Amino acid sequence: MINVAVLGFGVVGSGVVELIEQNKVGINTRSGKLVQVVKILDIREFAESPFKHLLTKNSEDIFSDASISVVVETIGGATIAYELTKKALLAKKHVVTSNKELVATHGPELLSLAAENSVHYLFEASVGGGIPIIRPLYNCLAANEITGITGILNGTTNYILTAMKKDKKHFPLALKEAQTNGYAEADPTADIEGHDACRKIAILSSIAYNQFVDYKDVQTEGISKVTLEDIQYAEALGCSIKLIGESRKINDKVYIRVSPVIIDKSHMLSNVEDVFNAIVVEGNAVGDTMFYGKGAGKLPTASAVVADVMEIAKKCSCMRNTLVWDKEKKLQIVDCTQMASRFLVRIKSDMEEVALVRLVENNVGDVQWIKRLSNTETNEFVFITAQEIEAKITKLLTELENNHLKVLSKIRVL
Ligand code: HSE
Repeated sequence: MINVAVLGFGVVGSGVVELIEQNKVGINTRSGKLVQVVKILDIREFAESPFKHLLTKNSEDIFSDASISVVVETIGGATIAYELTKKALLAKKHVVTSNKELVATHGPELLSLAAENSVHYLFEASVGGGIPIIRPLYNCLAANEITGITGILNGTTNYILTAMKKDKKHFPLALKEAQTNGYAEADPTADIEGHDACRKIAILSSIAYNQFVDYKDVQTEGISKVTLEDIQYAEALGCSIKLIGESRKINDKVYIRVSPVIIDKSHMLSNVEDVFNAIVVEGNAVGDTMFYGKGAGKLPTASAVVADVMEIAKKCSCMRNTLVWDKEKKLQIVDCTQMASRFLVRIKSDMEEVALVRLVENNVGDVQWIKRLSNTETNEFVFITAQEIEAKITKLLTELENNHLKVLSKIRVL
């Protein structure tokens, strides 16, 4: 029998409790054990909940109960969740979490604490919600050198970008719609500024390259500056704009970033829409593999959490003593601004067209001019640069701005 305690009875926590009840026959059969939730920690009252008899406000009811072997942490954040996770591991209880902020911030310490106490710290649900990605990366693709990861890792921003493209909505309206539908938080900063995707790509990269990647080192840009016009220019080129988290091992360093990117419709990620997530993992033996599904939500996330609980019940997880992230030996990051790419650039100027074209080509070099969209202003000009170091393009565009010309946007083309 596996007795489980759930810390935090919010969306994911309640999903975990409900899923274990709903699918108990299959869960117990596949685990080879009876898996049951025996305590739920939350300071709130849930008078109507069928699980209210399991609720406690006192964490000691859980940590001092020797019959509880697994603690599910679905509190979120890196403060109370951090303290309670440490207490659980020190009490020699396995911990399963969906909390990417905690894993990305304190993963090295919590993994060593788990190892010292001979228990698991598992976090399949921290990236990609219900999509299996952590365990496939760590186990099924373990024979490969992972050469790269490219993913749509945030459902909220993918929903917003899809609404902008399909319904021609401007960013503020698409964000409002995402909030009304319960995808974006009241404070949407972590999603729209790319912080959430940044933590997720750091977690995946740490697993893929066997060395800790600190999310604070990741160059991160969100989608709050992406306009409807940017999206429509991309569409006119047969492309989409997606918020992409990507990383690539380059010798002993890692190239890693989160940014809005223009991708061609032939790219595997281009048709991933709405709140869906997808992650392409490149291995040197397997080639490209793609993982696709619901990256957020109550039951999809609970699906990954409960699978981790079952993994512990089966006692066959290979993650126990082998996954170690040493914070002192974190992977060095390549300066993304020194990498070459093409960029879609939109500029605005009152200069006469022939003179402007000459000025841009003299400064930026060979560019591909794009036909102006009918709904954009007549003094707007759009071009795609040749493959060039990003820092150099930024410098050239800054110089152009000194010539009474305004750069409206600059978006990388993958
Ligand atoms: N805010 C996250 C998203 C939730 O939109 O993808 C899942 O991590």
